[in-house]
Amino acid sequence: MRILALNGSPRKGGNTEILLDEIIKGAESKGHTTERLRLYDYEILPCLDCRSCKRETSGFTCALSDGMQAIYGKLESADLIIFGTPVYWYGPTAKMKLFIDRLRPYIASRKLAGKRGMVATPSEEGPSCCGPLLQMFAMSFDYLGMENAGSLLAQAYERGDITKRPEELKRAREMGAAVQE
Ligand SMILES: Cc1cc2nc3c(=O)[nH]c(=O)nc-3n(C[C@H](O)[C@H](O)[C@H](O)COP(=O)(O)O)c2cc1C
Repeated sequence: MRILALNGSPRKGGNTEILLDEIIKGAESKGHTTERLRLYDYEILPCLDCRSCKRETSGFTCALSDGMQAIYGKLESADLIIFGTPVYWYGPTAKMKLFIDRLRPYIASRKLAGKRGMVATPSEEGPSCCGPLLQMFAMSFDYLGMENAGSLLAQAYERGDITKRPEELKRAREMGAAVQE
């Protein structure tokens, strides 16, 4: 199984990164192939609703030319995509939202249909504040025909705080190790 872990946090060494690393460690221990990607390393322009990606003449591809052109292929060859983002105002970070908006070509092309999607999210308040974010991901996965592979919600605030919660790191590793072919 090919796993692509997307980090939508701007913080290097942040809680999202640490959680994703643990999930990846668990998955690698079971022989899965993994790749990590920091969304903040890429230019991601906002979707302009030009609807080019809805036209067959475009091959159902995005007309914008930016970092997403390097990411689309990775998404299409992954079996499981992990969406890692901290909670920012009860939703994902702005960068993650830019990224999600740019998944629009897959509405027509269906190239993400059948793949699995997972969510990994730290927040100051913890799981109780994650309802809107989880609902957005669940409905978006459903719209794209993706299977919801669950979520990991953890409480953490300062950069790297999550390392003070070994039980959360263990949970992340176990989640990675539990990924089935
Ligand atoms: C702009 C901004 C908005 C935030 N909004 C929330 C929020 O609504 N609820 C919450 O629990 N934490 C919120 N936080 C805290 C982050 O979710 C928390 O610090 C998280 O651990 C950061 O993850 P990171 O280290 O991967 O960047 C916010 C942080 C920022 C910078």
